[in-house]
Amino acid sequence: MQRRDFFKGMGVAAGSVAIYQNSFSIPAFASGPAQTIRFGMISDLHHLQFGREEVTRLSGFMDDVVKTNPDFIIQCGDFCRHTRSEGIMEQWNRFKGPKYHVLGNHDMDYCGKEAIMQFWGMPKRYYSFDQGGFHFVIMDRNFLKEDDGRLTHYDSSNWGKLPAPKRSFTDQEQLEWLRADLLQARFPVVVFMHQPVYLSDFPLEIGNADEILSIFDEVNFKATQNGSRAGSPAGSPAKVVAVFMGHDHDDRYGQRNGVHYFMVNSATYVYTKDGAYYYKDPLYAFVTLDTSGKMTIEGRSTIYTPAAPEQVVSRFPTRISDHQIKL
Ligand SMILES: [Fe+2]
Repeated sequence: MQRRDFFKGMGVAAGSVAIYQNSFSIPAFASGPAQTIRFGMISDLHHLQFGREEVTRLSGFMDDVVKTNPDFIIQCGDFCRHTRSEGIMEQWNRFKGPKYHVLGNHDMDYCGKEAIMQFWGMPKRYYSFDQGGFHFVIMDRNFLKEDDGRLTHYDSSNWGKLPAPKRSFTDQEQLEWLRADLLQARFPVVVFMHQPVYLSDFPLEIGNADEILSIFDEVNFKATQNGSRAGSPAGSPAKVVAVFMGHDHDDRYGQRNGVHYFMVNSATYVYTKDGAYYYKDPLYAFVTLDTSGKMTIEGRSTIYTPAAPEQVVSRFPTRISDHQIKL
């Protein structure tokens, strides 16, 4: 469903900000003095895709980052290459605070995971951290399922050799880590991944998304059952509250079993059956999370340049939508 239709259904004008009430909500948040954390997020920059440099585009995001000094910044995959990308890292490193990476499929088009992670300074392919009263989880969904069932790391464009249903898998070791990590989380959880587990128009290319969704369901069910988990601050049960995903180059929002899912639009272009249509200005967003249970997303919008055909303009928004959400 297009966001425009969604707003229409709610009787709220497109482009305005709506408060979504989560009827399945469980009390994920403790009372007491609220903490806030604000982060900058950019996805699918695609430096050097189709031979195009995207240093200037990233600098637009970084200007805003440097000016507004968020608590951290994160890129949600398909960022750049391990060579000819020094200008990208120069821009990225203008921010002196914490910077986080998510591996996207195109990041391994010309190398393996180790090379791009070393270039970025990314210590682990999946990991988690606590900041500002929230628990953040970063996943790596870049595995191929070979014909014999083995999972192989993406490396040097190998993902292109197998059809869509064989792509975007997550390894067992990581799934076990994810489950354990979430069950031990002391704060409400926000997850970042490149390939979507939900809301995708490409349901054949989501790998073992069902296993990840099952883990979210199990953890959130246990949080509901426990009511108050030992070790959590002020008796607040930890649960997965939001998931940010890239890859599809689209702007979408939806809820599944009480979790808020966001498809974060590309900073750079939409890809259609007729090829790529580029955005004039970079798309990115700033997200503010409040431990009283609020999330605000301030997204940027732009236009196509050169102008795109009407069917592209009407189907693929050149924006990341604003949201105000009760978690
Ligand atoms: Fe991607």
